[in-house]
Amino acid sequence: MEVMPLARGFAAELGGVGLIDVASSEAAYRAVRAAFETHSVLVFRGQRVSDDIQAAYSRAFGPLELVKVGSVGHGTFYSRLNNLAEDGGVVPENDRQIWRARANQLWHTDSSFKETPALASVLSARTLPSAGGETEFTSTRLAWERLPDARKALLENAVVTHSYANSRDRIHPELMTAAERAALPPVRWRMTWRNPVHGRRALYIASHAYAIDGMGDNEAKAVLAELIAEATRPEVTYLHRWHPGDVVMWDNRATMHRGRPWPLDEPRVMVRTTIQARDEDGLAALRPA
Ligand SMILES: [Fe+2]
Repeated sequence: MEVMPLARGFAAELGGVGLIDVASSEAAYRAVRAAFETHSVLVFRGQRVSDDIQAAYSRAFGPLELVKVGSVGHGTFYSRLNNLAEDGGVVPENDRQIWRARANQLWHTDSSFKETPALASVLSARTLPSAGGETEFTSTRLAWERLPDARKALLENAVVTHSYANSRDRIHPELMTAAERAALPPVRWRMTWRNPVHGRRALYIASHAYAIDGMGDNEAKAVLAELIAEATRPEVTYLHRWHPGDVVMWDNRATMHRGRPWPLDEPRVMVRTTIQARDEDGLAALRPA
C-alpha cells in the first residue's frame, strides 16, 4: 500500500489498495485502519463502487448508522445526497434538497448531534457536475494542537451541546421537520476527542455546536465561532476535487468538512455510508461525567 500526502499534516491518497481489498482481507483492513488513525482523510481513486461494495468496506470499521428520518435514504445504510426529483430531473432552487445542500456547506462533523456519534463517513461520487461540488476538509487535531497551552487548559474539559436544529435553523426555519425535531434532541460531549491509538486530541466542534457548560450563550457562540474560524483558515484545509471513481473516507472525531456549491441546474449524486463510534474508538471518554 502506498500513502501519498495531500495536505500539510493530514489527508492522504492511498494506492495499491481498494475498497474490495479492505472488505475481504484483514491485513488490508489493518493497513488502511492505521492510515486512517494517522491521516484522518483517506482518498481512493478509480474505484468501481456500488452500494454493496461501499457498505462491505465501511462495515470493516464498525457498525453502520441507519439514515435518519428526514433524509433521503431514511431507514437504509445509504444517505443519498442529490438534487434529483422523483422523476429524475433536477429539483428547483427553493426545494428542501437545495436547503439541505446549503446546510452541508457549513463547516461540520457528521452526526455529532446524534445519541451515537460517528467514527467515520465514506462518500462516493456517483454523478458529478461539470464544475464545483468539491468537499473541503480541515484537521481539528492540528487545530487543537495549534492552540496556546493556556487556552487548551481552559477548554480541554469543557462540555459542548450539539443540536441538529442549530445548524438547520441557520439555513431555513422550515428545513427541519417536526419529526426530525422530535427524533433529535440536543446532546452533550466533551470539547476534545482523544484518539485511543496514539493519544492525540482533536477539537470536537461543528455547525451543530452552540452551547458550552458554565458559559453564557453569547460568549459560548463567540468561542465556538472563533475556534471554527481558526480551524478552517484556507491555508490549512484540503479541498477535494471529485473525479469519477473517487471514494473519500474521513474521521469525524478529528476533522470538519463542508460541501462547496455547484451549478444547480446540473445533477450531483453522492452516496454516504456512516460508521458509528464505539467506546473503543474513544467514545467512552467523550461523555461528560
Ligand atoms: Fe457531512
